[in-house]
Amino acid sequence: MLIKYISLSSLIVLYSLMFIGGYVSAAGLGLTCPDWPLCPSGILPSPEYVIEWIHRLVAAITGALIISTAIICWLTKNSNQKIKITGTLSAIFVLTQITLGAIVIDLKLQALLVAIHLGLGIILFAMVLLTTIMVFRINNIEISN
Ligand code: HEM
Repeated sequence: MLIKYISLSSLIVLYSLMFIGGYVSAAGLGLTCPDWPLCPSGILPSPEYVIEWIHRLVAAITGALIISTAIICWLTKNSNQKIKITGTLSAIFVLTQITLGAIVIDLKLQALLVAIHLGLGIILFAMVLLTTIMVFRINNIEISN
């Protein structure tokens, strides 16, 4: 059951992250926090960059959820090769996307990189969606010891 909850949570949190990212971009808030990984006031947000801070926080949560899903896909006895592949690709894409987010800021929102950040986000969403659909089709989920 755990794999179903975690994969579905990944999908929902990822969708929210993409929504927040769209807001950050459209509202021109992309450089409100110019440092990486923390914003100038440290771990806690400050009002001038709270939205961008939320985008990073939710990205960290999304990363943890997607990587956990990939690990559980490998540990689940009756998960098949396709689930393992989409789960692993999701983990690789989320790590790439987080790294790319840092580069987007470092290179001051270079247009091509922002477009790649959007494009990779869509591919990541598709991969997490596929994993979730396939996970919900497994019968009698058993985790190996
Ligand atoms: C799983 C991780 C992430 C996903 C799925 C994601 C997704 C998105 C999406 C969909 C957008 C909107 C792009 C657009 O409308 O053109 C966006 C914008 C943005 N993201 Fe992320 N993001 C992630 C992680 C990060 C991280 C870790 C950072 C770095 C700090 C970051 C920095 C940004 C910035 C600065 C923008 C706004 C770009 C602009 O102003 O045009 N993202 N993100």
